[in-house]
Amino acid sequence: MSKVSKADDDLRKLLSEKRIKGIEDRQVGSEVFDSMTLKTLYKLSKMGHIHILKGAISTGKEANVFKGYNKDNELVAVKIYRVRSSDFKKMQYYIQGDPRFNVRTSNKRQIINTWVTKEYRNLMRAYEVGVNVPKPIIAKNNVLVMEFVGDEEGNPALPLRQSKISNPQEVLEKIVDYVKILYKDAKLVHGDLSSYNILINDGEPVIIDMGQGVLVNHPVSMELLNRDIDNLVKDFKKLGIHITKDEIKSKIMDL
Ligand SMILES: Nc1ncnc2c1ncn2[C@@H]1O[C@H](COP(=O)(O)OP(=O)(O)OP(=O)(O)O)[C@@H](O)[C@H]1O
Ligand SMILES: [Mg+2]
Repeated sequence: MSKVSKADDDLRKLLSEKRIKGIEDRQVGSEVFDSMTLKTLYKLSKMGHIHILKGAISTGKEANVFKGYNKDNELVAVKIYRVRSSDFKKMQYYIQGDPRFNVRTSNKRQIINTWVTKEYRNLMRAYEVGVNVPKPIIAKNNVLVMEFVGDEEGNPALPLRQSKISNPQEVLEKIVDYVKILYKDAKLVHGDLSSYNILINDGEPVIIDMGQGVLVNHPVSMELLNRDIDNLVKDFKKLGIHITKDEIKSKIMDL
């Protein structure tokens, strides 16, 4: 069974209404839907942010992303970090250099919750300066609810690496422009930019997965920016575009 259908299966078993109502007194042995996560989902559902949780869009190393509908029947994406498989060391490292978070803890749940808040705030900062990102809706514990990127029928947009694009040059220019306003206006570096974390929605690039994003004054921000640029050069070379790191960097820095 594929990872996505396994997650779907877990979901069907665990999120039937009966189970959700009985969460408190049940021992739930699922990787994704441990009892704390179910409680969080239940709270989000009471708040109207998630009315129906549908199938898995993606099952990654640390998080699963599901499609859902809110109480107004609008599509949402629900990203759920699995407490058991998260890379706490990495999370802790990035959180500690970030002046927005004064968290000195080794409590795993607390680290994940801070990480999810960080992802929410990074997305919001990016959204506010006009970068095309899914609008974040709410972060609660290990769950992030955000705007769904895809068509109206609920088909999710595909990552750049799986998309067929007819205008790579134009797409690259838009992405470089986003990286630039992210840097200049939002004072943020994405830190994990690659053809996995850029979705192509109706021909337009959408930047996702901003948990790792750091402020420009973070000790590793330049290293991350250079890596992001490196990834862009490599990914677009595969699409027939030849541009150098320096060319991209001078666009971003306005040199
Ligand atoms: N808002 C969204 N709308 C539609 N699809 C999404 C959305 N957010 C994420 N996805 C899908 O889920 C996939 C994984 O999301 P994301 O990159 O945020 O998680 P991840 O941190 O890479 O997960 P992991 O680290 O566990 O691999 C994306 O590649 C995309 O296909
Ligand atoms: Mg990703």
